[in-house]
Amino acid sequence: MEDSDDEIKKLYAEAIISYYEHPHNKRKLESADAEFKESNPVCGDVLTVYIKVKDKKIEDISFEGQGCAISIGSASIFTDFAKGKDIELIRKFSVKELIDLIKIDPGPVRLNCATLILRATQKALSKYKG
Ligand code: FES
Repeated sequence: MEDSDDEIKKLYAEAIISYYEHPHNKRKLESADAEFKESNPVCGDVLTVYIKVKDKKIEDISFEGQGCAISIGSASIFTDFAKGKDIELIRKFSVKELIDLIKIDPGPVRLNCATLILRATQKALSKYKG
């Protein structure tokens, strides 16, 4: 059982690295309705998130910036997930839900990496008044 758990963890870690090498939604979104630049206080890496909203849903979401494999992998997975979702769901999305979504345990040191995209997105949406 432990072997298969280790195998699954390894597969998810490989998936994160694959997203880092081939990120999803890593581009600037022209005429975004909301954007926010957030940095990781631990390392100084920065992500800017761009969001387009239509009918209270996330019509499109993208990001630019620099980060490690965990932050870029998490940003890829989260932006894929957030597309089409109600903005209220994303405003209330928790750190635990994000960790469940990316399917890796980043540990306390890398938690700031994994949650960089969530903080940027929620701060962008908190500025959005539409
Ligand atoms: Fe900088 Fe992870 S080490 S975002």
